[in-house]
Amino acid sequence: MFFRQLATHDASLSYFFGCTGHAKAVAVDVVAGDEEWFVDQAAQQNVKITHVIDTHLHADHISGGRTLAARVGAPYCLHEVAVGAVHFDFLPLRDGQVIEAGNVLVKVLHTPGHTPESVCLLVTDKRRSNEPWFVLTGDTLFVGAVGRPDLADHERKMAAQLYESLHAKLLSLPDAIEVYPGHQAGSVCGAGLSGKPSSTIGFERRFNPSLVLGDSGAFVDSLVRDIPERPADMGRILAANTCSA
Ligand SMILES: [Fe+2]
Repeated sequence: MFFRQLATHDASLSYFFGCTGHAKAVAVDVVAGDEEWFVDQAAQQNVKITHVIDTHLHADHISGGRTLAARVGAPYCLHEVAVGAVHFDFLPLRDGQVIEAGNVLVKVLHTPGHTPESVCLLVTDKRRSNEPWFVLTGDTLFVGAVGRPDLADHERKMAAQLYESLHAKLLSLPDAIEVYPGHQAGSVCGAGLSGKPSSTIGFERRFNPSLVLGDSGAFVDSLVRDIPERPADMGRILAANTCSA
């Protein structure tokens, strides 16, 4: 397989990976303005982009996902919960669904908490093993932090959902699974993010301050105490990411 991580402005991290043998690739969390980079990478790797996925509806930057999807003729994908929140058609993803890109398998994990439609993507390279190798964690789990729970309001309820998602869906994975988050230090999507753009489930399990808190109540209390400023221009950005134009 091939794998690229793109560090963009606003401390966002985008991903492009796939199977060169079967010439299929997946683009994740594309930032508006970066579409050409994905087209160039696809040409370099000689692959076709089969899916363009946003891990959630972003509140801090305008997504380039729909533009790239239209440009390359691929479906734009969000978790199915987003149906009521957006004014355009997309390919709805379900929890547990597996997307095949040649020898690369992408399993959708619905992980609500940062937002209701947040997903993580668990990736397997069948050429190496039938077991998963890494997980793209969007804004659910960062290196050294977790996603902020307040963007959809109801922050205590969302924080409790985030606790469940983290513990049931991510911390149930083996320690060796690599973690590739949606942001690094400098982002307003969480508090206390590391400047290192990847980690492992095992390292975060032991040393992430939000994952070593005892129970859901302590987690919720800690998270809502430490909420950063809302992203500048959040209303305009969310409108752009959910509107039909
Ligand atoms: Fe986010």
